[in-house]
Amino acid sequence: MYVNDLQFKNYRNLNDGIISPCKNINVIYGNNAQGKTNIIEALWLFCGGHSFRGSKENEFIKFGESFSRLKIKFFSQNRNQEAEILFNGGKKEVSINGVKKHSSTSLIGKYNAVVFSPDDLTLVKRGPSARRKFIDSAICREKLQNAVILSKYNQTLNQRNALLKDIFKHPELKGMLEIWDENLCYLGAQIIYQRFLYIEKIREKASEYHLGISDNTEKLDIKYISTCSAKSGDSVEEIYNKLKTVLNENVNEDCRAGFTNAGPQRDDFDIIINNKKAKIFASQGQQRSAVLSLKLAEANVLSELTGENPIILLDDVLSELDKKRQSFLLNKIADYQVFITCCDFEEEGLLKEGKKFLIEEGRIS
Ligand SMILES: Nc1ncnc2c1ncn2[C@@H]1O[C@H](COP(=O)(O)OP(=O)(O)O)[C@@H](O)[C@H]1O
Ligand SMILES: [Mg+2]
Repeated sequence: MYVNDLQFKNYRNLNDGIISPCKNINVIYGNNAQGKTNIIEALWLFCGGHSFRGSKENEFIKFGESFSRLKIKFFSQNRNQEAEILFNGGKKEVSINGVKKHSSTSLIGKYNAVVFSPDDLTLVKRGPSARRKFIDSAICREKLQNAVILSKYNQTLNQRNALLKDIFKHPELKGMLEIWDENLCYLGAQIIYQRFLYIEKIREKASEYHLGISDNTEKLDIKYISTCSAKSGDSVEEIYNKLKTVLNENVNEDCRAGFTNAGPQRDDFDIIINNKKAKIFASQGQQRSAVLSLKLAEANVLSELTGENPIILLDDVLSELDKKRQSFLLNKIADYQVFITCCDFEEEGLLKEGKKFLIEEGRIS
């Protein structure tokens, strides 16, 4: 899919107007605080979710105005389509091809994008929760049923943890753990199984992108770390048994801690560059490249799933990357429609084919 044009009305600091991108690389450049991320955010909002900046909907409305409207024309599923989102005080109205919808989730599947924002560097740099979120949102996008399983798992886990805390004061309740454990292992095994499948899907793709970005000098690998010793290739049943065993082994430890020490909520994955953990050893540029490779792999898997290339939104990605890496991003992913923001866009022939937009105080030229 690709975007033909995006129209703004009272949207953040952007002047009312329209941006008409090309089908491959679009560079949006300008000084700080001019509105570059605002454009990326507007393009992302049509995916049906929330702002990747965690903003509230009222914050999209230009200061001093009462509503904000975004209109997009895009080509997807072999036809021209359009969508509109109106932020009106506390309300949001969405229409697709002129038909009003109850929620912006109706855009899911019609309009797909993958976004990289500097916050995504937490994927490499920080603790495991950002990585679990990345993989869980990916498996939910693959199968809606996975979202149901995840939510049931978390519910069951909370109930088990509450019981663990009670057992601390009332040890006679210990026998009741079994009631939760059965369900927990049944749901948890499915989550771990789906996560392994997804890791297998993105591993090679991410590695290929990373080789490209690093000009064939760095080998990227991803390794799932299971707290119940599950392995890639295990069946759901095998994972179930392993999870059950480890819950039984940990029971005293869990009662002391008041929470569950093993299971998908404690799993993680390692991002490895040239056999070394990226979190510990990678430079800023290498970490950025690794996250980008993961995101591009995510886009690739999404293309296979939906039969359409998602658009790729890269916010502030070029800083800390050397010229070779920048050149790869600007020239080697042109089979996708890409929007990329940066501060100084030096000519130097880095961008071979594509369109540039200068943005100054919300004015796009
Ligand atoms: N609702 C709003 N109304 C007017 N200006 C806004 C609104 N929300 C954010 N801004 C301003 O938009 C400017 C540009 O933001 P941003 O797109 O993040 O800049 P950058 O070009 O650095 O990516 C900021 O100065 C911010 O204060
Ligand atoms: Mg920005």
